[in-house]
Amino acid sequence: MFEGYYKKSRSERLQILRDYAGLTDAELAILNHEGALPFETANHMVENMISTFQVPLGLGLNMVVNGKKYAVPMATEEPSVIAAMSSASKLIAQSGGLKATSSGRLMVGQMAVYGVLNFERAKQTIIEHQTFLLDVANAAYPSLLKRGGGARELIVREVETTEEKIFVVHLHVETLEAMGANMINTMVEALCPDIERLTGGTAEMKILSNLTDQATATATCTIPTNLLFTKNRSGEEVRDRIVRAFAFSDADIYRAATHNKGIMNGIDAVLLAFGNDVRSIEASAHAFTARDGRYRPMSRWSVNARGDLVGELTLPMPVATVGGSIAISPLATLAKKIAKVENAEELAMLAVSVGLAQNLAALKALVTEGIQRGHMTLQAKSTAISAGAKGEEIERVAEKMLETGQINLSEAKKIIEEER
Ligand code: MEV
Repeated sequence: MFEGYYKKSRSERLQILRDYAGLTDAELAILNHEGALPFETANHMVENMISTFQVPLGLGLNMVVNGKKYAVPMATEEPSVIAAMSSASKLIAQSGGLKATSSGRLMVGQMAVYGVLNFERAKQTIIEHQTFLLDVANAAYPSLLKRGGGARELIVREVETTEEKIFVVHLHVETLEAMGANMINTMVEALCPDIERLTGGTAEMKILSNLTDQATATATCTIPTNLLFTKNRSGEEVRDRIVRAFAFSDADIYRAATHNKGIMNGIDAVLLAFGNDVRSIEASAHAFTARDGRYRPMSRWSVNARGDLVGELTLPMPVATVGGSIAISPLATLAKKIAKVENAEELAMLAVSVGLAQNLAALKALVTEGIQRGHMTLQAKSTAISAGAKGEEIERVAEKMLETGQINLSEAKKIIEEER
């Protein structure tokens, strides 16, 4: 039934799909609804394209990083993420905003060379021929060199499996505004014949590494306790509870995974809105966090000598403002303009700042009123919408469900019926 599906036009694909899945005309109309990404463009982006998928795009507000104010486009389906980011950013802005730095942006390519007999000699040979090898890599992608980027250094590592020792060569590349996957893969493939000749081994695996530890960004914030108090707790107590929540994550992988998921809620939302490869950033962040062999919380919360709460987050941020599908995605192009982000380095610092703000919002809520109150308010609204509530009805239905604590589809439908 799906034979040659990729060769068919989109409308032919929909006809086939209609028969296959028994779609109604109304359901076909949903698939035919064209969003900000034109079908024509989407059709060139993936195989077997039938429609485009949308998630809400909102603005995370109140963010101040290195003295600059940002309205941050965030694409996410999770109801509380943008609200939480905006409220934590407001708190941080009152304390002077976030400070962010970047380590620079070198991406990593890997070559795994098997069958090398003398590792020391092979290592020496690679180091001696470094300039020549970098020239070979750069010659494989001359346009990058012309724009001021290019291959910068080679590092040699030894990796031991249960079977053998692998001679691993890393190529560090400055990819400028791109994430650079194609650039790096082209370069490492071009380098292989020379690496094999110089080491006497066979380069079986050549591909970029998603652990981009040469391209990190760090965000920090310092919040005095007089900004942390809640209705029932002093600022000191909230601060100490947040630090204890961090210590719990640091000691327990079950909690660390959730702590980190909350950080990535913000980072993924920003980078999805910027048309970036979110899987690469996720892979990089989790691997970096476990780089010494133990999975840890990505951020760190402590108390400084003045008694303020201090938050810090360092993560690899292989982000891009060009390349991939960024230029052909109208919303991704707009995101840069809306956020007034000048370049990839600034985007990396902004994303990590959002991650830290998101983490503060979650921890503060968790150790005080609990996460459910805020979550449920937004959850109630989405449930009301799913049940068919429209316009002002949405708020009213949500409020009624919150009053009774019954937040589910059938309750929402019952309230809508009563209202109408
Ligand atoms: C929910 O998406 C994220 C949180 O679970 C994060 C956390 O627990 O730190 C609230």
